[in-house]
Amino acid sequence: MAYTLKNGQKAIVRQAVTEDIPFLKEAIKAYVLESPYQVLTIEEFEDTFADYQYRIISRDHMAGSVIFVADVEGMIVGNIDFTPNNRKRLAHSGNIGMGIMANWRNIGLGSAMLDTLIKWAKKNRSIEKLCLQVYADNAAAIRLYEKFDFREDGRQKQFIKLGKNKYEDNVLMSRPV
Ligand SMILES: CC(C)(COP(=O)(O)OP(=O)(O)OC[C@H]1O[C@@H](n2cnc3c(N)ncnc32)[C@H](O)[C@@H]1OP(=O)(O)O)[C@@H](O)C(=O)NCCC(=O)NCCS
Repeated sequence: MAYTLKNGQKAIVRQAVTEDIPFLKEAIKAYVLESPYQVLTIEEFEDTFADYQYRIISRDHMAGSVIFVADVEGMIVGNIDFTPNNRKRLAHSGNIGMGIMANWRNIGLGSAMLDTLIKWAKKNRSIEKLCLQVYADNAAAIRLYEKFDFREDGRQKQFIKLGKNKYEDNVLMSRPV
């Protein structure tokens, strides 16, 4: 889908294709390195990206999952994905993950990505509920999710360990489709 961002730039949010892989890898690596709100460490990044790459190449989105990239004037600067739960009794829901490179934040791109994903989910009859997890102090992300009608389901106290005696709570949020 096409969007005009708050700074006037044009963005396209579209499903990831094989050709995007090297650019998407650089974009994710950039925000994993810089953002304090990623559970994934840079050491763990390569392994998880290999799975992600496989999902794109094998067009896993056919199986109820999806990966969208944010393309701003030809540059991949962020991504959003949905991964359904495997178990039969949980398969009506799944989890969203998203991130954007620092220079492209706060201009409406996160909103564009979430809008595309929600519209995609509405067309997918098996998805009834969208879930996500967010650091309790990630105010920009929580603001974005609340704007799109996600509400807090609960909190896991000290779920994320940032260092010795340093923890952050994990907020569970969801919205119906
Ligand atoms: C979370 C993230 C995807 C949001 O994307 P984005 O493109 O900046 O989102 P948008 O610009 O569409 O919307 C952000 C909203 O948060 C608001 N915001 C920004 N900083 C804020 C803050 N510190 N406190 C409260 N609200 C804030 C913005 O004003 C905007 O609200 P508005 O549309 O009402 O003006 C982006 O910040 C990001 O990639 N962060 C690093 C990775 C990350 O945290 N991923 C999410 C893991 S759960």
